Amino acid sequence: MSQLEGKRILITGAGQGMGHAIALGMAAAGAEAIVVTDVNEANGLAIAQTVNAIGVKATFIKANLRNSSEIQALIEGAVAFMGGLDCVVNNAGVIDSQLIDDATIEGLDEDTWDLVMDVNLKAIWLITKFAAPHLRASGRGATIINSASVAGVNGTKAGVAYGASKAGVIQFTKSSALFLAPDVRVNCYLPGAIETPMALGHIAASSDPEDTVRRMTGAHLLPRMGEPSEVSDLVCFLASDQSSFITGVAIPIDGGMLAWRGLRS
Ligand SMILES: NC(=O)c1ccc[n+]([C@@H]2O[C@H](COP(=O)([O-])OP(=O)(O)OC[C@H]3O[C@@H](n4cnc5c(N)ncnc54)[C@H](O)[C@@H]3O)[C@@H](O)[C@H]2O)c1
Repeated sequence: MSQLEGKRILITGAGQGMGHAIALGMAAAGAEAIVVTDVNEANGLAIAQTVNAIGVKATFIKANLRNSSEIQALIEGAVAFMGGLDCVVNNAGVIDSQLIDDATIEGLDEDTWDLVMDVNLKAIWLITKFAAPHLRASGRGATIINSASVAGVNGTKAGVAYGASKAGVIQFTKSSALFLAPDVRVNCYLPGAIETPMALGHIAASSDPEDTVRRMTGAHLLPRMGEPSEVSDLVCFLASDQSSFITGVAIPIDGGMLAWRGLRS
């Protein structure tokens, strides 16, 4: 039996970066069906085609996660396409430093704060709310897996709103685990610096890219950025019945960043 046999999975933000890698990883792990969603139509269609080519039933549903009715339609569409829902991966996210030039306390504007909170945190609540009845009815080991960040634990200059939103994701994960037990397991993971368009965009936009890389990876005990496929491996485990006694946890996948307080010399 393959790791994700029988699982019908919805992945947000699957057009690029970690979401893209998670879709590939879950297809390779033998998922029954995958619905990918993103606000970027071209990228979303492309990953759905790739998953289909692997031999897993897949489709793309476009949704802007700032819009409640689009989220509701997304859940209904995913359930209709797959005949049910066993797993949601809430991966989509945005970060202040890629939305505005002056991502400081004083420079942050209300629209950017609201955008980051809407996509990173409010959308996870709305998706959980609309998906919950379907997940409770799954009978196939239902799970929700949320993308948080080490920035939800420690302060980060890349995003005042981002860090606050990710701290919210960690807390919301625990409350969801409580409300949805025992029918649905809910967990989140906290990536360190992972090599994706989001991280590479943050590096490119900085005034001193070399120094930014040093700061992003300097606290990793494993001296490099993480690979999106390494995150996908963790998500596949959390979605599978191999993690059947794990709920309400926040798992760092950060090369050891949160294990200490310092920078490698
Ligand atoms: N890359 C890192 O180092 C890192 C570290 C910690 C946590 N994370 C988190 O991991 C997740 C994935 O990050 P990534 O680096 O792959 O990001 P990314 O920017 O490469 O991809 C994010 C995806 O989310 C989609 N998206 C953005 N706004 C949306 C909206 N309004 N509606 C629907 N989709 C939308 C984008 O189109 C994109 O495809 C995010 O939640 C991010 O905060 C990333």
